[in-house]
Amino acid sequence: MLFQELRRLSLRESLPVYLVGGPVRDALMGVPIKDLDFVVEGNAPPLAGQIAESLGGRALVHTTFGTATVTLDDAHVDLVTARSEVYPYPGALPRVTPSRLDDDLSRRDFTMNALALPICQENPDVVDHHGGVEDIRSGAVRALHSASFRDDPTRLLRAVRYEQRLGFQIEEDTLSWMGEAVTQGCISTVTGDRLRHEIDRTFQEENPAPALRRAASLGILPSIHPSLTDAGPMERLASVMATATAPGMEKLAGAHKSLLYLAALVYPLSPADTDAVIQRLNMPNAWAQVVRDTVDLKVKVAERRIADLALSGSQLARLVEPYAKEAVLAVSMLTESPSVSRQLGRYLEELRFVSPSLDGRKLLAMGVPSGPMMGQILNDLRNARLDGQIGTEEEERGLVQKLLVQGG
Ligand code: CTP
Repeated sequence: MLFQELRRLSLRESLPVYLVGGPVRDALMGVPIKDLDFVVEGNAPPLAGQIAESLGGRALVHTTFGTATVTLDDAHVDLVTARSEVYPYPGALPRVTPSRLDDDLSRRDFTMNALALPICQENPDVVDHHGGVEDIRSGAVRALHSASFRDDPTRLLRAVRYEQRLGFQIEEDTLSWMGEAVTQGCISTVTGDRLRHEIDRTFQEENPAPALRRAASLGILPSIHPSLTDAGPMERLASVMATATAPGMEKLAGAHKSLLYLAALVYPLSPADTDAVIQRLNMPNAWAQVVRDTVDLKVKVAERRIADLALSGSQLARLVEPYAKEAVLAVSMLTESPSVSRQLGRYLEELRFVSPSLDGRKLLAMGVPSGPMMGQILNDLRNARLDGQIGTEEEERGLVQKLLVQGG
């Protein structure tokens, strides 16, 4: 709807608006289009304002970046001023100057993304100065020039992501430029945030494992940190996830997909490597916790305690509870020990949801003073529930009376 309105307006007023990049590629391939990105020759923000006004929508403008988002009802499109880019030094964010469409396409990563569709034309022809249409037809990931990966080494990860998602092949020259960029250590010029963002986008792929395997074998992951060499756990996770709709996989509900794949990525690491990887990727707390917990839990599993099927519910919960859910879930899928997998599954599917019926308010009404004793009694109630010693609120009340007598 917003697209049609935008097209009508650009046709009527001959506005230099082009659909660019991913959506053109995906439309040509006949795969679902995610976001619509437009480039404007001239200055995007005023044009966005004009479009928003004539459509009755809103324009959110970033004058400094020459970008704008037009929103109409709950749809939105991004408009960017056509620009050329100069990389002041490898890995840096580029210096940007407004430019023509051709320059804007020439600054892009791969030929298949250097495509544009002039929506201001009645029967638009795809603008394709770099052979992108032919590369899409033959299934080639081809960089535009030999310095592409040195300028922006995040493109190394993008190349394998597109290759594996689309079933393409990285073209020979491109592959050798990638090899050079890796050998020259170009990845060390990129900030942790930018690398993490690109890795996260890989985690969001339907099946991230093939791209990550390729990134490992081309030396891309190891040049982020030498310990990141083993894609096996990610493949095992992906194959279990593929059956995630099977009965018994309720434990997956609510797990964060990126964090699960992160756990699989770091599963082979030693505790000594985890801090370096966390630092290199400048991980936010949630990521860092999953990394530490996964490796820590793996070590604990190796100590065999968790595998002990004679552990009571409360003992098992006490061992597993401190760990992030995604770490527990990933280890339950990756461990080679069926009893560990069973124990962790039992915690995830059953034990972690156990809580007493009585809460602080009800305990206060029963005469339990607030403070440490209240916390202790709630804990005892939960343990008794976990161990199946009590099953009803009535039985909980009985236990509280007993504990109060003992405490007093
Ligand atoms: N781009 C680039 N170099 C980068 C990142 C992006 O040249 N390091 C360009 C590409 O032309 C890309 C466009 O910016 O098509 C938009 O970036 P992004 O949204 O990351 O790419 P999509 O192709 O839309 O990605 P996806 O299909 O994964 O959503």
